Amino acid sequence: MKKVYNIAIDGPAGAGKSTIARSVARKLHFVYVDTGAMYRAMALHFLRNGISSSDEAAISRAAEDVDVTISYKNGEQQVLLNGENVSGFIRTGEVSAMASATSVYLPVRKKLMELQKKLAEKENVIMDGRDIGTCVLPDADLKIYLTASSKVRARRRFGQLKNSGREYTLEDIERDIIERDNQDMNRSIAPLKKADDAFLVDSSNMTARQVEEQIVELFRQKTEKGEK
Ligand code: DC
Repeated sequence: MKKVYNIAIDGPAGAGKSTIARSVARKLHFVYVDTGAMYRAMALHFLRNGISSSDEAAISRAAEDVDVTISYKNGEQQVLLNGENVSGFIRTGEVSAMASATSVYLPVRKKLMELQKKLAEKENVIMDGRDIGTCVLPDADLKIYLTASSKVRARRRFGQLKNSGREYTLEDIERDIIERDNQDMNRSIAPLKKADDAFLVDSSNMTARQVEEQIVELFRQKTEKGEK
């Protein structure tokens, strides 16, 4: 059977994981899998159905019944919620907060993790999230923990949201980022943390291009040596 390569990128909100993972995927001809989008689609389902993030029983039931899948259109991942493409509805602050709050529950994680593992078995993927190197792909060929200071991450998010038509201050964004980091790092199941064998990349003073080049180089070094 042909060897399938997997790269795992974990890190806190706004560290640039998706930008970097997308560009590395293009360079290496890998499929990019954005696992945060799956948690966001689930969160949207809970919000649409008026389910509170503290109602564990209702969240568990809804997570079991709902269908979250992904497909690709012009090389871009689309996330489907019960067959509906919801990619355009999952990037709001409300969905971010709900995704973080409901990703603490085992039924939510279990369902999405199974889908993520299956995707990585079939083809070369670069997958980003919070628990990819630690739980989803513990045998990944390369693991990266990508981070940056909360100030830098807030500034980058601010730049992305400037033209979104919504009023966010830099302080609002940094506060949300810190809150989400705390939640994601301190939950009991699959918290965000650096895998022991992950490379730490702090992008605070790096351009996206430099980060991309470093990751591609690390991948080449690891796989050329035939290391696991
Ligand atoms: O990467 P993101 O900001 O789109 O992720 C949204 C939330 O989903 C994040 O705050 C926590 C959760 N998440 C997770 O628990 N595990 C993952 N692998 C990816 C995301």
